[in-house]
Parts: sequence; C-alpha cells; structure tokens
Amino acid sequence: MQQHLIQVSFDEYQDINALNVGDANLLHAAREAIDLSYAPYSRFQVGAAARLINGIILKGSNQENASFPAGLCAERVLLSICSSLYPGLPIIDMAISYNNQLGVSNKPISPCGVCRQSLSEFENRVNHSIRLILGGTQGKVFIIDRATDLLPLAFSSADMK
Ligand code: THU
Repeated sequence: MQQHLIQVSFDEYQDINALNVGDANLLHAAREAIDLSYAPYSRFQVGAAARLINGIILKGSNQENASFPAGLCAERVLLSICSSLYPGLPIIDMAISYNNQLGVSNKPISPCGVCRQSLSEFENRVNHSIRLILGGTQGKVFIIDRATDLLPLAFSSADMK
C-alpha cells in the first residue's frame, strides 16, 4: 500500500485594497458583472471576469432557467464567451464575485464542482493554468494559483486514450 498526499495552498488578502492593481481591476470587473446576472430563481447573483493572455478582459454571469438544470454558472458562461471570441487563447486570471439574496457578500466563494471540471479542461486545452481571484463585494480575497488545484485527480481527455 502506498499513501499519497495532495496539498493545496492559497493566499489570503484582507480585502481588495491589499491586491496589486491588475488583480484589483479584475475583481472590480467581476463585481461589475454581478449586475449582468440573470438569477430570478436563486437570487444568488454571480459575476466573473477573465483576463486573457492578450490583456483583454471579458465578463460573464450566471444565467438561470425555469428548467433549473438548464441554468449556467457564471464561470462556465465566461469560459464559453472566452473560447468563442478568442479560440485557443489562454485565460491568465479569473476573478469571481457574487451577491446573495440578502445583499450579503463578505467572504469568497469558490467554483462549484462542474465548473471546476470545465476550468480544468480549459487549462488543459490551451496548456495554461488559470489563476483564481475569489472575493465578495467586500472582505477577504483568496488567490489560488491554478484552477486545477481545486480538482485533484481530475478526469481528463488523457484518461480516455
Ligand atoms: N453559481 C455560479 O454561477 N457560480 C458558482 O461558483 C456557484 C453557483 C450560480 C448557479 C446558480 O445560478 C446560483 O449561483 C445558485 O447556485
């Protein structure tokens, strides 16, 4: 028997003011994207912003549906926007923010399991990691070096060969 240990580390910042300018701008863009959310059912609005390798920043938000499983998280909406407008171009950083139905948003949220899978495939596809900047509309910010850190032992196309 051999035991394996997988460790994940992330950086915690007191708030947006502790970030460098580029990271603060991207988190600000994610906060702006909250207003683009269509979330009449959960009233949980999520905004995300991606910085591509060419410097362009794109925004996405969650888009719900009366048929609940048809709804899409902000992260996957954003990944589709990025790869549709700029196919093959790496995303360097992605910031994610939100507002809950009470208007409380003072701690980071991290991507759901399905989005982790999609982020992982995107990283593999363009051969570049996505650095995650996670924060509410106020409060602490977490930075994770690569999205795949959140999905150890991920299933990928390599497993199908
Ligand atoms: N949601 C996201 O957009 N991203 C996440 O990381 C977590 C959840 C959305 C899905 C749904 O529209 C709402 O938030 C409540 O789950």
